[in-house]
Amino acid sequence: MDFCDLTGKTALVTGSSRGIGRAIGLLLAQLGARVVFHGSRAGEKLDSAVAGAGGGAVALAADFERPDEVAELAEVLIKRSLAPDILVLNASVQSYTGLADFDGAEFLRMFCANVESSCLLLRKLLPEMRKRGFGRVIFVGSINGVRPAPRLAVYGATKAALMNIARTAAAENAPFGITVNTILPGVIETDRNAERLSDAEFAKSLRERIPMHRFGTACDCAGAVAFLASDAAAYITGAEIPVDGGWQLAR
Ligand SMILES: NC(=O)c1ccc[n+]([C@@H]2O[C@H](COP(=O)([O-])OP(=O)(O)OC[C@H]3O[C@@H](n4cnc5c(N)ncnc54)[C@H](OP(=O)(O)O)[C@@H]3O)[C@@H](O)[C@H]2O)c1
Repeated sequence: MDFCDLTGKTALVTGSSRGIGRAIGLLLAQLGARVVFHGSRAGEKLDSAVAGAGGGAVALAADFERPDEVAELAEVLIKRSLAPDILVLNASVQSYTGLADFDGAEFLRMFCANVESSCLLLRKLLPEMRKRGFGRVIFVGSINGVRPAPRLAVYGATKAALMNIARTAAAENAPFGITVNTILPGVIETDRNAERLSDAEFAKSLRERIPMHRFGTACDCAGAVAFLASDAAAYITGAEIPVDGGWQLAR
């Protein structure tokens, strides 16, 4: 039995125009899934992700800061017979602000893009999975959802909220053949933290505190997601898997 063969499955990977999402989309496509790549807007990055996946892949754009666009994305997927068997909730926005400078508008923006969008997609797409008696939902959380980091309280709170939502969705949907799990990336080299990690001194001290003494790659995350999407993980639900080189163990 080929545990990782995803032939015949459709996958939506949100935020897959670049970074971790892109690596996940490309790996799922390599394993045989028809992948819907998604970004906040149409453009070259999204097109190049689709091109990298080969035939069958599709690009769809929706700004997750706009709930109407999220709902429309789900409608389009259903109308075009692209309702996913595998739903990877990866897109997020992140900003650094200390609580002393708390900004209500920014709080709402992060909760809308990171949390509400996931709930809206689940509301529309879980019923389709239930009809089929099969589904794999994988949240891309963050180690910041479980451990504090300076100036990331609100972002970390969105990730903590998603962990709770994932566990609840796992319990609610287990009887329908649907698993729901979360990966918790540590420090992964992508566009998102390129500027911070370009500070050589900061990067060195951070790397030294990670037990594996290296930052993660988008491919490190993709492997864990592919495993959770596969038959090898059929009996795993409600789990949180750190992909962080042991960072959650560090003091
Ligand atoms: N990198 C890390 O160290 C790290 C660590 C822990 C957790 N994570 C989590 O891993 C996931 C991916 O992170 P990454 O580093 O790969 O991020 P990234 O390089 O910043 O890419 C973000 C992706 O999300 C999309 N996106 C951004 N804003 C959006 C919006 N308003 N509406 C819809 N899509 C939007 C982007 O699309 P566009 O190209 O259109 O902007 C892009 O595809 C995120 O959930 C992040 O929180 C990352």
